[in-house]
Amino acid sequence: MAEGSIHKGLVGVLADETAISKVDPEKRRLTYRGYPVDQLAEKCSFEEVAYLLFNGELPTSAKLKAFEKAERAARELTRDQIAMIKLFPKSAHPMDTIRTAVSYLGTREVAWGGEPAKADLARGLDLLAKIPTMIATDFRFRSGKPRIKPNPKLSFAANFFHMCFGKVPPDNVVKAFDISLTCYAEHSFNASTFADRVIASTRADIYSSITGAIGALKGPLHGGANEAVMDMLSEIGSAKRAEKWLRPRIAKKQLVMGFGHRVYRWGDSRVPIMRRCLEELSDWAGDRRWIEISDVLENIMVGEKKIYPNLDFPSGPVYYLMGFPINLYTPIFVAARITGWVAHYLEQNADNQLIRPLSAYTGPTDRDVTPINKR
Ligand code: COA
Repeated sequence: MAEGSIHKGLVGVLADETAISKVDPEKRRLTYRGYPVDQLAEKCSFEEVAYLLFNGELPTSAKLKAFEKAERAARELTRDQIAMIKLFPKSAHPMDTIRTAVSYLGTREVAWGGEPAKADLARGLDLLAKIPTMIATDFRFRSGKPRIKPNPKLSFAANFFHMCFGKVPPDNVVKAFDISLTCYAEHSFNASTFADRVIASTRADIYSSITGAIGALKGPLHGGANEAVMDMLSEIGSAKRAEKWLRPRIAKKQLVMGFGHRVYRWGDSRVPIMRRCLEELSDWAGDRRWIEISDVLENIMVGEKKIYPNLDFPSGPVYYLMGFPINLYTPIFVAARITGWVAHYLEQNADNQLIRPLSAYTGPTDRDVTPINKR
């Protein structure tokens, strides 16, 4: 057996250093490059946050202008990229289509890890610009509608509504979406970012790392939870039914989606920001059903189990009220988290060591191979 103890799920393991973000569960605080996420969400656009994560500093207005110009110019897809998206089975989950579409982008060139950061930053910007277009194009085709071209006059957040629905909602709704992107942008060594870094550590290219990260994000214990939350709220249907729905689940020790977190034990620092967005969106849409169900669940889970909601709990209904279909919520998470993934890909490459843990072997030992005719 290998020496040392096993850290199943790598619980409590410090795998490396990072200067990108800090999760402080004691203070219930999250910072990106030293800036509190609530200040970034309130005072900055998602584009500024993307610039910060990519470059380490907030942009000046001239630098932001140049960054926005480059992002807007790179949004459009080529004909073959559009044709490929058209070919996807309409029954495929949008996480599978965005994973495949990102992988396809990687076939345009032969790239390797450890190339100058400038080259990977340019690829990162291209991914940031094209991922929303690929998600929206796939959404339009699967709804039997023609695609809508990206509009370079619109912000990142507004353009996504435009490409999905052909119209942009009022400013407060666009701002709530922009805030959600900032909240989802980065979160230290979560499972998908760690997958990104593991692949980067082999000196594979950025597209391989991001494709792997998208695969890891899909699962309902990670990014897929925002979809699972909305499925759960829809199944409950009304605040009246919520307690009756929850009690047997608690008794049977079943998971309640949108609650719990590996790092935060006393609440997710991003929840108050998204909760405010949920309040605003519920009033805007004139639909308080989801917030009322959420309150019943939260009161019981926190009051009796001391298990707190995570970001996916308010963001699921926020995206619902914005009109997005449920299976688009985790792809939206991809559109935001690409910023953190790119930053981690660069950081891993700048000071790389192959990530290769040990395992404790528990299978049979000391066996001799008998010839096939004697088995
Ligand atoms: N519903 C019910 N019970 C939960 C729970 C949830 N969502 N999350 C944790 N618990 C319970 C566990 O059953 C366990 O109870 P026990 O000690 O009696 O066995 C205890 O809390 C500790 O949970 P554990 O599974 O060890 O925590 P973890 O760090 O391995 O898991 C998550 C963290 C996020 C995977 C887990 O909380 C979860 O599956 N949540 C639901 C999915 C979700 O919302 N994911 C998004 C994360 S941002």
